[in-house]
Amino acid sequence: MAINIKRPNGTEDVLPKDVHKWLTVEKIARETAESFGFSEIRIPTFENTDLFLRSVGETTDVVQKEMYTVMAKETKFTLRPEGTAGTIRAMLQNGLLNEALPQRVFYILSCFRHERPQAGRLREFHQFGLEMAGSPSPCADAEVISLAKTLLDRLGLKNIELYINSIGCPTCRAKYHEALRSYFEERKDELCDTCLSRLEKNPMRILDCKSPVCGEIAKDAPLIIDYLCEECSEHFEKLKNYLTKLGIDYKVNPKIVRGLDYYTKTVFEFVTTEIGAQGTVCGGGRYDGLIEQLGGQHIPALGFAMGIERLLLVMEKQGCDYLTPKKCDIYFATMGDSALEKAMELSRELREYGYFAEYDMMNRGLKAQMKYANKIGAAFTVVLGDNELNEGKAKLKNMESGDEKEILLDNKFTANFDAVYIDRMLESLEDAEAFPAFPMNKESE
Ligand code: HAM
Repeated sequence: MAINIKRPNGTEDVLPKDVHKWLTVEKIARETAESFGFSEIRIPTFENTDLFLRSVGETTDVVQKEMYTVMAKETKFTLRPEGTAGTIRAMLQNGLLNEALPQRVFYILSCFRHERPQAGRLREFHQFGLEMAGSPSPCADAEVISLAKTLLDRLGLKNIELYINSIGCPTCRAKYHEALRSYFEERKDELCDTCLSRLEKNPMRILDCKSPVCGEIAKDAPLIIDYLCEECSEHFEKLKNYLTKLGIDYKVNPKIVRGLDYYTKTVFEFVTTEIGAQGTVCGGGRYDGLIEQLGGQHIPALGFAMGIERLLLVMEKQGCDYLTPKKCDIYFATMGDSALEKAMELSRELREYGYFAEYDMMNRGLKAQMKYANKIGAAFTVVLGDNELNEGKAKLKNMESGDEKEILLDNKFTANFDAVYIDRMLESLEDAEAFPAFPMNKESE
């Protein structure tokens, strides 16, 4: 039987040519979160299965259909399908919630869900997410939404709509569940088996069932927003007011219920129509009961997560900028063993000072080495052979302009290279400045 060594369906390889795109998102996400007072947390890739049953919820699609669970000896473990449960578990287990509140953490991690793969929907995907614990105030909701919006803006993303809703607290939920039960009871025969069992236990979950038939039936179901208690209504009104004050556009979408059980009050999603059916780039909300449910005190909390693959799909589509990947500063083309040794010595020294230096390791001829230097986009090259070694000097070639400059191969090599390198940087800065001035000059003519 042939061995299958292809990557599993729904997973992706990120190749070296694309890593700078991921680094761009990760860097901007980290900096944005830190500027709002969040610190990074790192948690295990797998947890005890019970953690997800308790938090994400036993009647959710994620738990019922999508978890990767293994039995190891006597214990059941699950690859995390999301970051909130593990993060709250870690905060509780490490006493973070006994420290000054609000506690604010962010994470960048992989998640695993056994879904049907399609564009923007993977079985292993990555989230940038964050959680804030301690504040019951709607200003915390506005703060977290504002952070998400700031990040999307800083990534250069356009045309992403913010939808908000409130799904109430256990008090409003009780009346709402009754209304839902009597609505779905009438079309009970058409529901899928999973939804049939949800009807008793948790009828709200029928609202986000992925089956088209259940989806059609759910279209005219009662809306939670019509069942909010006074406290939840007031919370929602205040949030709307804060968002308006912050200049953040939003639309109320009373149909958002989110696919995870822990949410209370505010839920929100940032959605684009530009990458197909999986257009939700960010989802989040408040979960005031989760910490208590996992054995902690009653501490209200909230957060969100963004799918990094989806962000990258939109960035690609909209032609957003990325951080420039680091390129080779100097390449030594060598002829003979002594030249190779000199190149190794100089490269080591240059790298100590932060330069990206390379030399030939493939025993190529000079022409092939120069071709390679061109291919990797080296900024400068130096040809080293017996003549150069005997004379103690060589030609340093600026690969962009073609200019050559003599450089001494002595103990001041790095310092001499610094000067040439800085000159080149200044020139390219001047070029960059000259460019935008051009249309302005034209206008003033
Ligand atoms: P979620 O809505 O399940 O929420 O996932 C958050 C984001 O992860 C989605 O909006 C989407 O961008 C991305 N995502 C989800 N599933 C996939 C998939 N199969 N393939 C690619 N991307 C995906 C949560 O996970 C919550 N823990 C968010 C949260 C944090 N709520 C409060 N704090």
